[in-house]
Amino acid sequence: MKMTDLSIMKRYIRTCEDGWNQGWHERNGGNLTYRLTKEEVAEMKPFFYDQPREWVNMGVTGENLAGEYFISTGSGKFFRNVALDPEDSLCVVEINERGDSYRIVWGLVNGGRPTSEFPTHFMNHSVRVAATNGVCRVIYHAHTANLIAMTYVLPLTDRDFSRALWQSATECPVVFPGGVGVVEWMVPGGAEIALATCEKMKEYDAAVWAHHGLFCSGPDFDTTFGLMHTIEKAAQIWVLAMSCGMGIRQTITDDGLRAIARDFGVTIREDFLD
Ligand code: 13P
Ligand code: ZN
Repeated sequence: MKMTDLSIMKRYIRTCEDGWNQGWHERNGGNLTYRLTKEEVAEMKPFFYDQPREWVNMGVTGENLAGEYFISTGSGKFFRNVALDPEDSLCVVEINERGDSYRIVWGLVNGGRPTSEFPTHFMNHSVRVAATNGVCRVIYHAHTANLIAMTYVLPLTDRDFSRALWQSATECPVVFPGGVGVVEWMVPGGAEIALATCEKMKEYDAAVWAHHGLFCSGPDFDTTFGLMHTIEKAAQIWVLAMSCGMGIRQTITDDGLRAIARDFGVTIREDFLD
């Protein structure tokens, strides 16, 4: 039995492979974090280092995440290589009792640190754990080309993006009835983008990063990956329709969106409808 035989590790690694296969992770693009359950931590403990690495202060605090453990992709590591060499590409980190520092307890055998977006993931786990009563476990960031293309064309507002994506495919209002948030362009990896994303994630489970990619959260890998996939596919349809060069001639009406929400039993964000 190895660490990578554990069901949770297998599902994490499969999610990385799926993202690579979608073309969302050029080079080291994108990152994935998962907040482990107590049972999963107990299963993993025999594989943890006898001597964990040193504590690293994150510059941000999430008191509701004190003592939690996360699986994270390593900074600069390629999603393409995760399945080939998980011990080199991934790590498990423990959060201290103040909720402001981490230390590596497994993985990154050849050195390195968790994703440069770890403070952003961490703060957003904190916000989403609070918003979902502890249900949220996954934060996933990918470089989704069609959605990035949209950020050069549409006004960078939550309303404009939510409407355009809902109208792009009939299932969209069912998958993300709350819409998506949009974060203006910022330097990645810093506290500024972490805090701006947190503001959006108080209300949304997905945030578009202008000219950069998408940030999704969810209770498990399937739901979170499915959200990323659905939003990016809607963006692809929007880009395809616009590329025909005739403009959008007809679309799903606002009453049509309301009817979908009613029949599928979801609450669509009414202030984004006319
Ligand atoms: P990392 O390699 O540090 O995860 O950075 C990739 C990325 O997509 C930054 O936004
Ligand atoms: Zn990125």
